[in-house]
Amino acid sequence: MNRNNDCTVVNLLTDWVRGVFATIFSDTDVDFSNVSVAMAGARGLGDYQCNEAMPLAKKLGKAPRDIAQAVVDGAKLPDFIEKLEVAGPGFINIYIKDEWLVAYLEKMSADSFCAVSDVGDGHTVVVDYSSPNIAKPMHIGHIRSTIIGNTIDRMYRALGYRVIADNHIGDWGTQFGIIIMGYRNFIDQAALKADPVAELERVYVKSYEKSREDDEWLTQCRQELVKLQQGDKDNIALWDEFIELSMGEFERVYSRLDVKFDYVRGESFYNDRLQPTLDLLLEKKLAEESEGALVVFLEEEKLPVCIVRKSDGGFNYATTDIATVASRVDEFKPDTIVYVTDERQQAHFKQFFCISKKLGYDVELKHVWFGLMRLPSGVFSTREGNVIKLEMLLDEAERRAFEIVSRSSLELSEDVQKDIARAVGIGAVKYADLSQNPQSTVTFTWEKALALDGNSGPYLQYAYARIASVSDKYRERFEDIDFNSYPLLFSEDIERKLAIKVARFGETVIRAASSYKPSVIADYLYDLAQAYSTFYQTVPFLKAEEGVRESRIRLCGMVATVLRDGLGLLGIETPDRI
Ligand code: ARG
Repeated sequence: MNRNNDCTVVNLLTDWVRGVFATIFSDTDVDFSNVSVAMAGARGLGDYQCNEAMPLAKKLGKAPRDIAQAVVDGAKLPDFIEKLEVAGPGFINIYIKDEWLVAYLEKMSADSFCAVSDVGDGHTVVVDYSSPNIAKPMHIGHIRSTIIGNTIDRMYRALGYRVIADNHIGDWGTQFGIIIMGYRNFIDQAALKADPVAELERVYVKSYEKSREDDEWLTQCRQELVKLQQGDKDNIALWDEFIELSMGEFERVYSRLDVKFDYVRGESFYNDRLQPTLDLLLEKKLAEESEGALVVFLEEEKLPVCIVRKSDGGFNYATTDIATVASRVDEFKPDTIVYVTDERQQAHFKQFFCISKKLGYDVELKHVWFGLMRLPSGVFSTREGNVIKLEMLLDEAERRAFEIVSRSSLELSEDVQKDIARAVGIGAVKYADLSQNPQSTVTFTWEKALALDGNSGPYLQYAYARIASVSDKYRERFEDIDFNSYPLLFSEDIERKLAIKVARFGETVIRAASSYKPSVIADYLYDLAQAYSTFYQTVPFLKAEEGVRESRIRLCGMVATVLRDGLGLLGIETPDRI
């Protein structure tokens, strides 16, 4: 992250406060480079606060309140700060200057994306996400990697990073021997035509179960796999067909979710690199033979041993991932590679991150894991038959949204209603997931996934449409006045509070991106929509005096823009009316 490009309010204040501490306490050798500034809490005074006097008390040998007082008395105020004050046990409240805040908001309003800082300028991030497996349907467990990954992708792009979105689909591996045997023996062509991926999965499960009780069958599965790996024409043709059928289903889902990748390179893309990867591991003396397999011991790191070549000669998931790091480093020279998967793969990522580091790949590797999605009755399982297919979930979301939209917007044509229902239904599903801490386990219920009020996608979409319509009402009443030519004024405290929240958009995006938590954006947008609602109910708009009125219309327009751009980062559309 390029901090020089970070023009957010919080970064400006943080830099300044660090300098102030260093100057005032220059006779000590305490390090102030981690001193931070936080947003003021809901009831706190000031716009921002610095709460560092308490943790520094011991090091500085002074009471926290005395430290805070020394800062307030000794700081030379720059043009963006109105005043400082000491509060409570030693908080330093910071008040931003109105003129400066107005100039900041003007900059936001003139920019095409709210003047979000391009801290990613010159940096490259590969985001490896979604990554479903061929011949298995995308069920609602896959939605989290797809939606969280896509938001990470959008946030980093907005911050000026060069983002390479790569869908690392599982198109190689031991399951193909099993599917090929299943296909040859059990396939029902009519079912394959009607729902290809469901049928492929059915024959896979049947063949897998047979392989567990029938050794002969298992051997045949292994032989088919070896034939495939050696390039047998018939098996390659079948494999190609599985990929084509699966990709057809995946692409339907991606298009509905508005998810686009720069690359869809399956694991098979790295086949040629697997043997050289093993050679390198041997050359660097990282891998060794153990019971016929080739393994890397990671005892020092307190990690389980990592098998890079099985005793039957087959490569492993980890081998492909190490080869993939090498390939991405060569081709894209990324600063960071981010992987988005569920929590069960944590050990795998730790292992191959560790091995990649030993191999000297110069890249930061980050595993963004999320909690599993469960049903109130337990986990999803193909065998239990309780898997909810992703497409079914999206259909149901759109259907429920249409019921509501068609009742509330009678004057719109059915096509328009359908389009709004699509945006609302998909928005509800995405928001229900993104608004939670990614690492919490999500218990799926239809009610929660499709909630239309409270902290939900549709609530924010509705807030956007309502706020955006305020300026239309203004234009009806004051046809020839251009409200945008009026300056912003803060005549009420509540107005200023809202302005400060609007100004926090940029820092929120940086916080969400650097912590890989889309929920940070969701929380912010919900809070902003609520602050707006209080504002709207408390002060007059169209009835206010000239000047104040125009300023309010402008501020309201800025709230709408932030809601639109913020929801856009979550991949959620904002129709003009709902
Ligand atoms: N295909 C894997 C799965 O469904 C996820 C792949 C994640 N990406 C990676 N580079 N390992 O579990």
